[in-house]
Amino acid sequence: MKIAIIGAGAMGSLFGGRLAQAGEDVWLLDVWEEHVAAIQAHGLTLVDTTAETSIRLNATTQADDIGPVDLVIIFVKSYATPDAAQTAAALLGPATTVLTLQNGLGNAETLAKVLGAERVVVGTTAMGATLLGPGRIKCGGQGPTHIGSFSGGANPRLHDIATIFARAGIHTVVDSNVTALVWSKLIINVGINAITALTGIPNGQVMASAETRELVRLAVAEAVAVARASGIPLPHTNYFDQVATVAQATRDNRSSMLQDVTNRRRTEIDAINGAIVAAGKRLGVPTPVNETLTLLIKTLEQTYLS
Ligand code: PAF
Repeated sequence: MKIAIIGAGAMGSLFGGRLAQAGEDVWLLDVWEEHVAAIQAHGLTLVDTTAETSIRLNATTQADDIGPVDLVIIFVKSYATPDAAQTAAALLGPATTVLTLQNGLGNAETLAKVLGAERVVVGTTAMGATLLGPGRIKCGGQGPTHIGSFSGGANPRLHDIATIFARAGIHTVVDSNVTALVWSKLIINVGINAITALTGIPNGQVMASAETRELVRLAVAEAVAVARASGIPLPHTNYFDQVATVAQATRDNRSSMLQDVTNRRRTEIDAINGAIVAAGKRLGVPTPVNETLTLLIKTLEQTYLS
């Protein structure tokens, strides 16, 4: 399958590397020239606990170099989704599927508006990765990936995607309720990302102290209340336990938001805790802890972005 990955940060590169290793024709597309140049010159290096593997694959900063593909995977930060949708439009053939595996709310809706809802597949992944430097990625926790059709219609490519992902070592489940999937992942991110970014701790430590555990409990309870008020059929009954499970499975990972603040990049706070605050305001559900976390992350961002 010819696959283009838009947004070749830690997770995009991990998926691209694994799929290329499994024999797929993969293109990484990213605006970060140094990273692209390193991959073009030396290949992509995936660093595991036991080995370092160098993988040859195509990398470019220009969509024009790629041409039409079978599958586009979107891994850009949620605030860059409108630009990614325009880029994806240049990669479409008659049967191209566009899969979003991003964090946060609203990404699939943005892609569907530009590209057509029937092409869009929504997914969540509990795989983990950390960017070590241009062309070098550390593989993190191994969790399942779920995918489902955005429009609710049958997408003949869903099972093909799950099969090629599984061949690449990415355990993938096809799901029918993508809204519940996206909200479940959102609640996990609400429980882990801002708290780890503000404290500098790896995911595993978020449940280690009574103070961070209490913050997780309060932030997650607000997010669950907002989801319920929105009529989302949440698949789990106890999201505090879900966060504990993911934090344990990815215990050595630095969350994507912690990586963003460490690298002085804009974070996805607006699409995670900020999205809970915005929805809570619309629905009359109080979200003081998520509002505080959002304001603190925005204050931190201002120290390096302005
Ligand atoms: O954003 C992240 O870092 C990940 O979605 C998660 C699940 C919190 C694991 O690090």
